[in-house]
Amino acid sequence: MLSKEENDLLTCIGSGTPGGEWIRRYWQPAALSEEVAAGGAPLPLRLLGEDLVLFRDETGEPGLLDIHCAHRGADLSYGRLEDGGIRCIYHGWLYDRSGRCLDQPGEPVGSTFHDRIRQTAYSCIERSGVIFAYLGPGEPPLFPAYDFLTAPDECVTATKYFQDCNYLQGNEGNFDPQHLSFLHRLISTTPDDFRNAIQSTDKSPTIDPVETEFGMQLYAVRKVDDNQNFVKVRSFVMPGASLVDSRGDGCYHSDWHVPIDDTHHWKYSIAYKRTGLDREADLALRKRPAEADYTLKRNRANRYLQSREKMQTDTYIGMGRDFIIHDTWATEGEGPIYDRSSEHLGYTDRGIIILRNLMLAGIRAVQEGRDPLGVVRDPARNHFPDVLARDDMVPSNVPWRFHWRRQSVEGEPASAAASAATR
Ligand code: FES
Ligand SMILES: [Fe+2]
Repeated sequence: MLSKEENDLLTCIGSGTPGGEWIRRYWQPAALSEEVAAGGAPLPLRLLGEDLVLFRDETGEPGLLDIHCAHRGADLSYGRLEDGGIRCIYHGWLYDRSGRCLDQPGEPVGSTFHDRIRQTAYSCIERSGVIFAYLGPGEPPLFPAYDFLTAPDECVTATKYFQDCNYLQGNEGNFDPQHLSFLHRLISTTPDDFRNAIQSTDKSPTIDPVETEFGMQLYAVRKVDDNQNFVKVRSFVMPGASLVDSRGDGCYHSDWHVPIDDTHHWKYSIAYKRTGLDREADLALRKRPAEADYTLKRNRANRYLQSREKMQTDTYIGMGRDFIIHDTWATEGEGPIYDRSSEHLGYTDRGIIILRNLMLAGIRAVQEGRDPLGVVRDPARNHFPDVLARDDMVPSNVPWRFHWRRQSVEGEPASAAASAATR
């Protein structure tokens, strides 16, 4: 349970609020690369409560500016892309990616007025099919070198889903692995779907969260028999990325919950597999639940098309087999901004408690003039082998915290790491 004040700290992200000042210290997804084609229309977008325009200049590089022209506030997303920037179609002022005003056609020849104009502009970096932006003050931190952000194109895909609620609800839902036994349970499935079978049988996993230099790892451990456990590890990466393994084939998703404003957010989902993905098939599968504009086909307005009949024959909740829909139902149902002053947390919510404490500590750090956890400025520290999500059968006599750490450090396969650990 949180106090009303703590709840506001964590959920309000507008400019000038404590939570808004904290979350602006990190690079954030601003749009998918596919949303702004080279030479295509500028994209109006809302990010952290700010109305912005994203465009590519003639070099193809992305620029992110305040959507309202510094002259008299016209909407720059209708602008022309020409002459090294974006030109407002009201009176022709021209801005480059850095917000410099390059041209004011109506001013007298020789005027230096344009030199004194600065359109608000934010730094952008394009990686893994996503355009990231830094909306904070001062020099941006290093772009974090997580595997899913440094991998070659053939190893990643990216899409996103609209979420009609505050972003924190999405993050919290990712660190509550007990819900796999209910929310995501399949009733009709193949006999070899052992993950579903284990999760449906063991409804009270051991929940083991571990604080890290980037946020948290969380282990969910289900006993299979006397000799082995089924262990899932997922990672929370500050300020809002959740790495989750939902397939068991070495691919994980980084689900990054990014506030549009206090009551809406995007769930950016970057899939990463070190050995490469069938990108076309992967994207077809992951875009299936959504419309072309990234809103979900099953949504609150149509009651997520829940079927009582399918609750008997297909899935526990009767909302189809796409997990994104299940999670969206859960998080949107908590309301536009969930009031945590009336909740009742239990054992299964241990990860959520740590997640909130990490965020509150981050807000305090910013208020005290320090970088929050996960902001990196030293290249030697921009290395995160434990940012991962996996699941695996782990022998009962192997400490699960050790199982993947050893692999990530030494690159050993699971079986070798496990047997080494028992020697
Ligand atoms: S409002 Fe944009 S140039 Fe005048
Ligand atoms: Fe879920």
